Amino acid sequence: MGQTLTEKILDDHLVEGELETGEEIGIEIDQVLTQDTTGTMVWLQFEAMGLDEVQTEIAAQYCDHQTYQFDFKNTDDHRFLRSAAGTYGAHFSRPGNGICHNVHRENFAAPGKTLLGSDSHTPTPGGLGELAIGAGGIDVTVAMGGAPYYIEMPEIVEVRLEGELPEWATAKDVILELLRRLSVKGGVGKILEYTGPGVETLTAPERMTITNMGTELGATTSIFPTDEQTEDYLERVGRGDEYVEIQPDDDAEYDDEIVVDLADLEPLIAQPSMPDNVVPVSEVAGEDVQQVIVGSCTNGGYEDILPVAKMLEGRETSMETETIVAPGSKQASEMLAREGWVAEMMAAGVNFSEATCGACIGIGHVPASDSVSLRTFNRNFEGRSGIEDDNVYLCSPEVAAAAAIKGEIVDPRDLAEELGDLEDPGVELPDEYDGSKTDLISPDEAVDDELIKGPNIGDVPLKDQLGDDVAGEALLKMEDNITTDHIIPATQDILMYRSNVPKLSEFTLSRVDDTFAERALEADGGFLVAGENYGQGSSREHAALCPMYLGIEGVLAQSFARIHRANLFNFGIVPLTIDEDTYENIDQGDEIEIVDDVYDAVTSGQEEFTVRVNGDEYTATLDASERERDILAAGGKLAWTKDQAEESG
Ligand code: F3S
Repeated sequence: MGQTLTEKILDDHLVEGELETGEEIGIEIDQVLTQDTTGTMVWLQFEAMGLDEVQTEIAAQYCDHQTYQFDFKNTDDHRFLRSAAGTYGAHFSRPGNGICHNVHRENFAAPGKTLLGSDSHTPTPGGLGELAIGAGGIDVTVAMGGAPYYIEMPEIVEVRLEGELPEWATAKDVILELLRRLSVKGGVGKILEYTGPGVETLTAPERMTITNMGTELGATTSIFPTDEQTEDYLERVGRGDEYVEIQPDDDAEYDDEIVVDLADLEPLIAQPSMPDNVVPVSEVAGEDVQQVIVGSCTNGGYEDILPVAKMLEGRETSMETETIVAPGSKQASEMLAREGWVAEMMAAGVNFSEATCGACIGIGHVPASDSVSLRTFNRNFEGRSGIEDDNVYLCSPEVAAAAAIKGEIVDPRDLAEELGDLEDPGVELPDEYDGSKTDLISPDEAVDDELIKGPNIGDVPLKDQLGDDVAGEALLKMEDNITTDHIIPATQDILMYRSNVPKLSEFTLSRVDDTFAERALEADGGFLVAGENYGQGSSREHAALCPMYLGIEGVLAQSFARIHRANLFNFGIVPLTIDEDTYENIDQGDEIEIVDDVYDAVTSGQEEFTVRVNGDEYTATLDASERERDILAAGGKLAWTKDQAEESG
């Protein structure tokens, strides 16, 4: 039987296990990336493990989430990250140089390689045929030290693209269509592999818009085969020699198939406040728009902003709408500036912003209360924009530009008809991506050779080995789809404490219950209870690290999001799955006790646990590999890795 593209890359990197769905496999990692909010812990853990040098082909440290320097905290972190990259041999991308995924795809992403990144949109270079997976920071630390990355072999789903996109439909509409069909849970436990005749009609950057936002489907990763489009992009970024052809075999077998006829697509939009709340733009046309933002790792490339510039050339944006363009990389900004497009956009009324995550996580450009903001981003979770009563819509750059002109949501096809001289700008790649590289410091050019820790850099908290008696109060009961933004909000005022866990922990779940952190510390142990898809969203390991610091011993949920579930193991918190009936029977404040001898049960492979709630007994499941059980029992991955190192002498 032939192999899928995913199987070919995995086979090439396999160090343990077999490529059978559901089996745990260990794979070698070629490249790692980390950004500033997850990176400080990555390097503190790297230091705590006593490792001296990065072992992967490429390790890259980006500064994109918290780039504004309000006081010493972010600046201290940036200086620490630069010093860690220099000390241990990683590339360092300075604050303002761009969003990790954009800078990575321009400089390092390569077909056939494996990439592990401590950011949930790490799958972006799947559009170039790289197998790229988002993980918790500690997984990245361990991979950077040369150890394999372990993962349960996902199902491989073929997404067959037929036809060609019609005018005004874009790559963003392809992924919005998949979200409309499959929902934010539709990709959980799956790798989406794109095939079919429609693939060759999409440029590599368009493919990367699709693979970037496969994360919103919950997919482990998404990947395209490589072809002339891939080679063409690599040549334009000056790395044509890194091209390799990788295609699935003709007789490859997939676990499932989805067919999308590109010719049937039209401009789509995700309504507040979930990326899968998708409808045709025409259905919500006429809604006044107060803010439009073009940018983010999904649609912040040169080729995403050029169409906006072309649509705005010689026009004015609506007086009632604030329009912001924030490119994904400084290279894109520089090229657009040199070609005169920045001036064109400014003349049209655009506010041009720094290349950073910024507004995507509520840092700057926070919308007015209860107003409509149209963004080309990938997420619109309630409150993520920086205010609770936000109304964030997600769309393509073309739909965003149309709204900026009209001052209301409008199908660009209708606007084109109304204006008479507005044409679909199409997709155009520059002959050469030729921005300066002054903000990317290679290990050879490192300016530091020892760690520099300012007062905002704390120690890494550790957890004791798991005990036999685990009991405590249900400290908080939550609904379905609790995101990592709910657990630790990513806003500026909070995330600037990312390297100071005791302080950051004060904000844990404050968006659900602002007394939680205090109650948890006082209780010194206890449980979280949640519905389906607990921990969806980002790879933020602080969403497990802070609850661990507060003494949380277990989470009882109907289901868990993949990366967050791994993070719970990594920080020694027991993730138990419960059914709906058990969920309904637990109230906040109930006393919960795991009846089994927990350490023994976890290490002996026991799957079913008895949980006593107010005297009644229920069954909860621990679905875990042997390795995950060992990590949990040791008190988390840091302790486990150290134990392993000691055992091997
Ligand atoms: Fe940054 Fe938003 Fe992407 S936070 S990495 S632009 S999802």
